[in-house]
Amino acid sequence: MSTPHLTNEPWDEHLIRYGMPFVPRLIAKARGTLIWDSEGREILDFTSGQMCATLGHNHPRIVEAIREACEGALHLFSGMLSPPVVVLSQRLAGLLPPRLSKSLFLSTGGEANEAALKLAKLHTGNFEVVGYTGSWHGMTSGAQSVNYVAGRQGYGPMMPGSLALPAPNAYHCPVRHCRDACDGTCLEVGFDMVDAQSTGALAAVIAEPVESSGGVIVPPEGYWQKVKQHCDKRGMLLIFDEAQTAFGRLGRDFAFQHFGVEPDILTLSKTLGGGLPLSATIVSEAMEADCHEKGFMHPTSHVSDPLPAQVALAVLDVLAEERLNARALAMGELLAAGLRYLQDKHEIIGDVRGFGLLQGVELVKDRETRAPDVATGRAITSRCMELGLSMNIVSVGVMASMWRIAPPLSVRSEEIDRGIAILDQAITEVLAEGGRAAAE
Ligand SMILES: Cc1ncc(COP(=O)(O)O)c(C=O)c1O
Repeated sequence: MSTPHLTNEPWDEHLIRYGMPFVPRLIAKARGTLIWDSEGREILDFTSGQMCATLGHNHPRIVEAIREACEGALHLFSGMLSPPVVVLSQRLAGLLPPRLSKSLFLSTGGEANEAALKLAKLHTGNFEVVGYTGSWHGMTSGAQSVNYVAGRQGYGPMMPGSLALPAPNAYHCPVRHCRDACDGTCLEVGFDMVDAQSTGALAAVIAEPVESSGGVIVPPEGYWQKVKQHCDKRGMLLIFDEAQTAFGRLGRDFAFQHFGVEPDILTLSKTLGGGLPLSATIVSEAMEADCHEKGFMHPTSHVSDPLPAQVALAVLDVLAEERLNARALAMGELLAAGLRYLQDKHEIIGDVRGFGLLQGVELVKDRETRAPDVATGRAITSRCMELGLSMNIVSVGVMASMWRIAPPLSVRSEEIDRGIAILDQAITEVLAEGGRAAAE
């Protein structure tokens, strides 16, 4: 018996829903910080697409790089290399500390983490991998096994040996110990738990230096040094996943530069391709040689493809030429000031925190209990879209409801002012309409 179609919109008919509601309009064009729907309505993009368009949408240099690749080669046999790939590996080695000198170029962040986990396992001979509560590392099985923010339920066992550490969230202390300033107790409790659960085969800790989907969590001073010491003590590798944080969003080429700790393995994705699918897994010469010796295998259809590498070279050029690191810090201050102004005005905003152009805003039912106000947050987010501002609302388990605000690094100050004004209007209107009641 066939099920009748309950179609309201054209996209309800033949597309699989993948875990986030579709925005109820089709987007036809994107430039800089702006996108336009198919009816020509202009929308400010405060999510940089899916956190990838750090240079702004369709940057002319990216378009030019795509044209150049069309004149050269788009895709090749996986064992063939091309000039853009070799030059990109050299450019990254030049930007990174000497120890991180060997790159593998893949397509997505999940894939880069998958390769990182395989390299860590092969190199250490162990298999246990520790992720962070609230972390997001991708949708492939290995990466998903150390995602602790959402999406674990219903698929059976995750990878054996997947363990978790509590994220150092000062606003919602995971061990109910601190309030507003993390003193690192959660890390000590976390490693006690890891040791208790480990079968003696600890391979790596994987972490975002500033956890993004998990609530824009900036760790306290000295935190990553302590993590590195814990790793070294146990013979574990530290993997930093800089999908969102590398190349300017936090005002440096790499976020780990802020924290003074070099990872053993670095993964890059989203921001490396500036909107095209490209990722990289980067290790030391010694680790590469050891893993090669042990038979490391990870060819994919699009490994070392020339097109995205050509685009990444343009991304690196534009970052330097347009001084986007400095710009992210300056515009980030402006954005944070606007958000704090809204916090003073609207009780629903419990906390504003972040770094550079990665800002998080907690939406609470009351500032004392800090209980998340999911329904009103959703209603305001929808109103923002109607008013011409695209915002990403993320839920961190049952703990928090947050906007993760991350416009392209090319955002202009008047666009930040416009975004803050729209947000102000949306919050005011939704709360006046009865807020939560209206949302439910
Ligand atoms: C920190 C982080 N790592 C990895 C990924 C996965 O990247 P992809 O979706 O390209 O597989 C994401 C995606 O949001 C991410 O935020």
